[in-house]
Amino acid sequence: MTQTALVTGANRGLGLEFARQLAGKGWRVHACARYLSGVEYIAGVDWHQLDVTDFSAVDRLAEELRGEKIDLLLNNAGVGPREGAALGSIDYDLWRRVLEINAIAPVKMIEAFVEHVAASQRKLVASISSELGAGEFIDRVGVGRSGPWVHYRSSKAALNIAQRSIDGDLAKRGITSLLLHPGWVSTDLGGAHASLKPADSVAALVALIEDADASMHGKFIAHDGRQVPW
Ligand SMILES: NC(=O)c1ccc[n+]([C@@H]2O[C@H](COP(=O)([O-])OP(=O)(O)OC[C@H]3O[C@@H](n4cnc5c(N)ncnc54)[C@H](OP(=O)(O)O)[C@@H]3O)[C@@H](O)[C@H]2O)c1
Repeated sequence: MTQTALVTGANRGLGLEFARQLAGKGWRVHACARYLSGVEYIAGVDWHQLDVTDFSAVDRLAEELRGEKIDLLLNNAGVGPREGAALGSIDYDLWRRVLEINAIAPVKMIEAFVEHVAASQRKLVASISSELGAGEFIDRVGVGRSGPWVHYRSSKAALNIAQRSIDGDLAKRGITSLLLHPGWVSTDLGGAHASLKPADSVAALVALIEDADASMHGKFIAHDGRQVPW
């Protein structure tokens, strides 16, 4: 049976690669983008305009897709601005915006699409988090304690704990909830010097998603299969 995924932030970077690879494996993909101008045609992909912080638009899309079974809801959209994030020059409005996109919107997406996912065969909700949101990573690697990451790191830590906080409700509906770390990937956000290519990171994550079962519920897992301590 054809499986269906909904991916946010799918017009570039990891989201686009997820749309391509899932469609290439025969999934039907609802790909969401803030702007539809310039999105590429991919067989098996339906594009939807969606800014994930426009909660009325999120509700409208959920209504438009009512009755569709969504096997995988993939919260991928995210931002990682480095400006205004160091002590002495913190941009608090930008910080609020980052928290809204990276931490609050994924929960809104889950809330809006929970019925679609619960009605599906696979029943998977996955959010792309980051190891940078783990205190353990900062302790271990020791980089950036005072670096320009206060917005991003706090938003991913908030995403992790927010999703863990609703895991119980998702489990009651038979939904498996995952947090995924893609590695350091060469996208606009990851930068040109990153160690992984989007195609390789996403291939590993798609394999992990296709193998996922209820025993992985609530776990924070990296592209290489290891559990991320946080
Ligand atoms: N690359 C890495 O090394 C890395 C590592 C760990 C985690 N991640 C996570 O992976 C995810 C994808 O990042 P990426 O590396 O692919 O970054 P990217 O190339 O910068 O892509 C980010 C995507 O998110 C979309 N987006 C941003 N704000 C949005 C909003 N309000 N509504 C809808 N879409 C929005 C962007 O759309 P626009 O084109 O409209 O801006 C774009 O499609 C993010 O959650 C990121 O935190 C990345």
